[in-house]
Amino acid sequence: MENDFDKIINRKGTNSVKWDARKAFFGSDTALPMWVADMDFDHPDSIKQALHELIDHSILGYSLPSDQLIKSIAEWQKSRHQMTISEENLLFAPGVVGALGVCVQALTSPKEGVMIHDPVYTPFSSIVEHNGRTLYRSPLLIENGQYKMDLQNIEEMFKAHSIKLFLLSNPHNPGGRVWSKEELLELTALCVTYQVVLVSDEIHSDLVYSDSTIYSPVTLDDQYKEWVVTLHSATKTFNLAGTKLAFYIVYNEEIKNKLQFIQSQTEQGGVSTFGMTATEAAFSRSEGWQKALLTYLEENRQIVMDFFDKELPDVFYMKPESTYLFWFDASILNIDSMQLKQTFVDVGDIALNDGQSYGESSGQFMRLNFACPKSVLLDGLNRIKSVFESVR
Ligand SMILES: Cc1ncc(COP(=O)(O)O)c(C=O)c1O
Repeated sequence: MENDFDKIINRKGTNSVKWDARKAFFGSDTALPMWVADMDFDHPDSIKQALHELIDHSILGYSLPSDQLIKSIAEWQKSRHQMTISEENLLFAPGVVGALGVCVQALTSPKEGVMIHDPVYTPFSSIVEHNGRTLYRSPLLIENGQYKMDLQNIEEMFKAHSIKLFLLSNPHNPGGRVWSKEELLELTALCVTYQVVLVSDEIHSDLVYSDSTIYSPVTLDDQYKEWVVTLHSATKTFNLAGTKLAFYIVYNEEIKNKLQFIQSQTEQGGVSTFGMTATEAAFSRSEGWQKALLTYLEENRQIVMDFFDKELPDVFYMKPESTYLFWFDASILNIDSMQLKQTFVDVGDIALNDGQSYGESSGQFMRLNFACPKSVLLDGLNRIKSVFESVR
């Protein structure tokens, strides 16, 4: 049955990173995996059908991006994100993280500055450092229980250093924050003033809850189009990470040429036949599934918050406005940040992402992935509770 998000699917032994890399990352084969950001849900029937048809009727040779793929992306971006795009504005990549790397290589020179928020999704910092650029972190503030950009700090750093690029997680992983229109307007205006290209990673932007509205910087003012590269993919929302297809939306011809030059150095601009087929089916034929998914995830979000409010009232958490990630502060455990992850494994037999890998300011936080059947979620929450009970 489609949309049966309660169904437990055995992913063990399927080469799933989330399930089969537990021994390597956590030293345990049994820890309940609530870490890597993919979902324990089956993908929609429309995508299955499209992939079956591909296998039954096609030769799996090299592919060009199809007209249907481009149309499906353009229509999705128009209806969901008020973005007008045509074929000329699109480039493809096997993944958003790889595309972030191409942006760093194409739009900065060695040692030049790239700014990110702190905390933020781990590859943002590693990709800058691995490419020999200088990393600047702007710590996020916490206000009314949510992350907020420190725009004054960003401007001071733009003034003081040679910063060429800003990598933004929009919405924010790990905090689940959906940036306000005002914050995005101000950030993008600062980028324009100081000639910093803004890369807006919007991979989670279709996982936004009913109480929030997501904005894309390029839609806020036409002049921003010249300074913003938007990265997106259907893989997060439709649980297709293994099919490997992401895309850049870029309006500035000079920036596009620079990106294409780096892509051509490693022949990275092609499309995966499976990714293309799955993405096109996702964007053009899976709307009902996505709606049902968001309803289920919103229920799960409520379950997690209710559980923490009732069972762990002293633990601070951020209400996710988007994403299926729940970010909570484990500092009342009084455990060194290097030991936190292992404590959750050893005491609770649960695999969570640890805050210290997301930044210097979040060492005491942990990240829980709640995109799983409710029965599994309750099991995970009780494991977390057992850690707080036994360690305190
Ligand atoms: C903000 C963000 N960007 C990118 C990715 C991964 O993108 P991809 O699998 O397309 O490389 C993730 C995965 O969790 C993410 O959270």
